[in-house]
Amino acid sequence: MKIGIVGLGVVGLSTGVVLADQGHEILGVDIDEKRVSGLECRKSPIYEPELQELLVKNFDKMKFSTDYSILSDADVIFITVSTPTVNGKIYLNYVFDASKKIAETVKKSSTIVIKSTVVPGTARKVKEILGHNLKVVVNPEFLKEGNAIRDTRNPDRIVIGSEDKESGDLIEKLWSFTNSPVIRTSFEEAEMIKYAANSFLALKISFINEIANLCEKLPNCDVEVIAKAIGFDKRISPYFLSAGLGWGGSCFPKDTLALTSFAREKEEILKTIEAAIEVNQERPARAIKMLKELTEIKGKTICVLGLAFKPNTDDTRESVALKIIDLLRKEGAKVIAYDPKAKSNVEMVTLDECISRGEGVIVATEWDEFRGLEEKLKGKFVVDGRRILDPSKMDRSHFRAVGLGV
Ligand SMILES: NC(=O)c1ccc[n+]([C@@H]2O[C@H](COP(=O)([O-])OP(=O)(O)OC[C@H]3O[C@@H](n4cnc5c(N)ncnc54)[C@H](O)[C@@H]3O)[C@@H](O)[C@H]2O)c1
Repeated sequence: MKIGIVGLGVVGLSTGVVLADQGHEILGVDIDEKRVSGLECRKSPIYEPELQELLVKNFDKMKFSTDYSILSDADVIFITVSTPTVNGKIYLNYVFDASKKIAETVKKSSTIVIKSTVVPGTARKVKEILGHNLKVVVNPEFLKEGNAIRDTRNPDRIVIGSEDKESGDLIEKLWSFTNSPVIRTSFEEAEMIKYAANSFLALKISFINEIANLCEKLPNCDVEVIAKAIGFDKRISPYFLSAGLGWGGSCFPKDTLALTSFAREKEEILKTIEAAIEVNQERPARAIKMLKELTEIKGKTICVLGLAFKPNTDDTRESVALKIIDLLRKEGAKVIAYDPKAKSNVEMVTLDECISRGEGVIVATEWDEFRGLEEKLKGKFVVDGRRILDPSKMDRSHFRAVGLGV
């Protein structure tokens, strides 16, 4: 099939390279010229395991442009543009702009698939913009950054929201190589499922972070032990139960805000999700408080290990590490940082230099590289915000870890 992809970010590119690898012809459009020209030179604009390799491998089946006209005879077009939160509310203009341009360009009866995360009611508006000729399907994306390609190839489930059976069947067939369970729904259910899933995961993390807060006040009480034990309960499951510095990234913060503000417009207050957001907003300050319990920060050089919002990505959107850096600077610290992939407007140094120069160290991202550093960290004041260091190997007068009682 000829498959258009509008918006060549993490979701669009992962969808594109995986479908190209299945033998489809991919027509990718983005408004970002730099991104498109890089892709034309076979260069992925983002780091994701396997993405660059699949791009090169399938390059002869992929075309990239800023011009929507390449989509004119596409059979299926995925909308994978950003849906940020602006002033606490979802901003849908990128989706609507893309829909208008698709309507102006596409000549045949194509199926337009909304993969971007959108609040219920959006697909209906998109359908109005597109007009009669084009069919709409809502097919939300659940991939995890850092594991995007694997998740695209092998999702836990595929949600297909459609009004006519034929277009839903087409998209179901397109993803049939994944052998994943398929749930067919209305537009609104498909839109809502994505928000309910992300909000529940965010809630789970904020929950364990609150339990961590209490563990820190108790002797002989480690949140890791608590999480492991409750995770054996099948009703709870062990996933998304790691206490830490909180959730960041391009999805949970914006999606929880979008859902809670959307609910308020409908005169519903989603109290648990609003509480999860509040708990999360307190996490960066908690890391600073822990470091201050160990040492004075003012005038000291503090090393932040990890900038990406999670490992295996270079994405720093809403990264907790960047919030911690801001707070450290406000406290009068000089901040240096190391991350294997991500960059920011902070002095970036090698891992060894970061540790040797830092009087205090905050582990902000759980990159595998940061495991086993206990020996090297001797003599430093260390806050393990991601629970990757072995407390039994650390000098407890110089060490604090999230959810670890002193
Ligand atoms: N990143 C994730 O982990 C993830 C996971 C699941 C779902 N989602 C959702 O998928 C959507 C895309 O997310 P992402 O992280 O890939 O976004 P992104 O910001 O990485 O990429 C979006 C791309 O869309 C382009 N764009 C914006 N407006 C455009 C237009 N009118 N025409 C063409 N291109 C346009 C941007 O230039 C950008 O390259 C969002 O709704 C997001 O919530 C993201």
